Amino acid sequence: MSENLTIAVIGAGGKMGMRVSNNLVKTDHNVFYSENSPAGQERVTATGRTLTDTDAAVADADVVVLAVPDLALGAVSKAVLPNMKTGSILLTLDPAAAHAGLLSRREDVIQAVTHPCHPSIFLERHTPEEYADTFGGIAAPQDAIAAIESDDEAKRELLETVVRVIFAPVVDVHWVTVKQLAQLEPTLVETIACMIGALLKESLDEAINTMGIPEAAARSILLGHTQVALANSLKGDNPFSDACLIAMDYGRESIVKEDWKKIFTDEELDKNLAKMLHLDKIER
Ligand SMILES: NC(=O)c1ccc[n+]([C@@H]2O[C@H](COP(=O)([O-])OP(=O)(O)OC[C@H]3O[C@@H](n4cnc5c(N)ncnc54)[C@H](O)[C@@H]3O)[C@@H](O)[C@H]2O)c1
Repeated sequence: MSENLTIAVIGAGGKMGMRVSNNLVKTDHNVFYSENSPAGQERVTATGRTLTDTDAAVADADVVVLAVPDLALGAVSKAVLPNMKTGSILLTLDPAAAHAGLLSRREDVIQAVTHPCHPSIFLERHTPEEYADTFGGIAAPQDAIAAIESDDEAKRELLETVVRVIFAPVVDVHWVTVKQLAQLEPTLVETIACMIGALLKESLDEAINTMGIPEAAARSILLGHTQVALANSLKGDNPFSDACLIAMDYGRESIVKEDWKKIFTDEELDKNLAKMLHLDKIER
């Protein structure tokens, strides 16, 4: 799609707001930036970008990107929707609030969610910039996930254009439902993958501080084995040794609860989301 779009970024001075704006500014799209905190405003104007009042920023937008904190999405969606044009897309960058039903709705405005996959650990990287870009959106190619509540193919294409720009460079955009996106993030990637990352760091600290192993030795063997563990498990590179399989069983019995897969149920997803969104429970 070569058409120039009008895009509004609300929360343009935040972490994601700055990231998506840094990519949007490289395009010919017409972009408006809104930010309400003095520190955020300072970050936006320091890049040479001009701030626009939120009402004016969203008025002509084909896509309004809400890069505000998840806890503010309910109030901000309510505030911007009346000023958006018919057929435009309200895009959030995380599925939690959308799946929990916290976003305001307008019948003639399409709700959509997207999230970056981040560059794969198995990505073939060639340049120092690609190696340095672990988050994605700068130099290392990544995929993105998106959900749109519309059957209109043209709207989906329009959204894909925006997703490919804001998270560039993007290889594939994978389309799922809002609920599936919420099952992927938080359950699959934050609850599991990020938790295991934090557990690895805690284990490293134990090896250094409790067992008294020299930090360089512990760090080196952990980082190498983390790659082997992931390559063997997720890419099928090599089989684990027989002794390793026994140690893995011991680890699972000692650390993992038997009923851990309950986190994939709808009920547990709602509990997780309620905690993240500081709610007593998700009302459906
Ligand atoms: N930080 C990440 O790594 C990351 C990754 C993927 C998705 N996300 C999602 O992106 C969204 C933004 O998260 P973040 O981490 O960038 O948040 P952030 O706190 O870094 O930035 C939010 C910005 O929004 C501004 N803001 C708040 N209310 C506003 C309003 N009414 N009008 C204009 N500006 C307003 C704040 O001043 C702040 O600058 C969230 O939905 C989050 O889940 C974040």
